[in-house]
Amino acid sequence: MDTAPPAVALTGVTQTESDRAAQAALQARGPIPAHVACIMDGNGRWAKAQGKRRVTGHREGVVSVRDVTEAAAQIGVGYLTLYTFSTENWGRPAAEVSALMELLVRTVRKEAEKLHENGIRLHAIGDLGRLPDRGQRELREACELTAANERMTLTLALSYGARWEIARAARQIAEEAAAGRLDPAAVTEETVEAHLATRGLPDPDLLVRTAGEFRVSNFLLWQIAYAELYVTERPWPAFRRDALYDAVRSYQDRDRRFGGVREG
Ligand code: IPE
Ligand code: IPE
Ligand code: MG
Repeated sequence: MDTAPPAVALTGVTQTESDRAAQAALQARGPIPAHVACIMDGNGRWAKAQGKRRVTGHREGVVSVRDVTEAAAQIGVGYLTLYTFSTENWGRPAAEVSALMELLVRTVRKEAEKLHENGIRLHAIGDLGRLPDRGQRELREACELTAANERMTLTLALSYGARWEIARAARQIAEEAAAGRLDPAAVTEETVEAHLATRGLPDPDLLVRTAGEFRVSNFLLWQIAYAELYVTERPWPAFRRDALYDAVRSYQDRDRRFGGVREG
């Protein structure tokens, strides 16, 4: 006998009837994107608008992460990928970088158990060796704890840059060819994909960018070849589940052609 999976509960807030109805309406309205990727931007501007320090914006951004993760799992998104810290973000003032790393360590430690109880697999991509040791350790433990979970995969892109990723793939492929393990003539798109950090994840269907900028800032350049793009003025700390539903509705209204022609 089929039993319904237990409700996802990460935020500690009881789901309202109206949210349940909004989710059911969204699911009835059209397809739910299997993979949603988010460029979580605008934490600093959100804080500034409130007369607060940038780090307050990053903390409030974690609240959005929790809410969006919970809602995404509830509506049936299979993969949620969050651009959390870019290669270029290492160039920010040292105090901001260390505040972000501290927040990462604390958040992963605090949330790992809850993610696990809710069937969410935590995954991380990027040049993780650049993260502070404690961050690497917390991440590794949380990823191991949740490795077998199947409800949704939450991928954090950390110290991630698409150019870093593609250059690394090229280097690995070249090394395999030089060692005679790979015929250069046999290198295909699949070969490249198998060497990307996202190996095993489907390409994003929907790419959300908050805070109004129309750019991708070195995020998943290969993988977003056919993603539907959605930009909202809302800064990330104000991007909560209703904003996710707006993005999904926009996605449902798109006509994805993948370079083909529509029939009829
Ligand atoms: C996104 O918010 C968080 C990270 C890039 C780590 P920002 O910190 O970029 O906020 P803005 O864009 O300056 O408002
Ligand atoms: C993109 O935001 C990186 C992350 C969200 C982690 P940025 O704030 O770094 O991007 P730019 O500087 O506006 O391109
Ligand atoms: Mg920014």
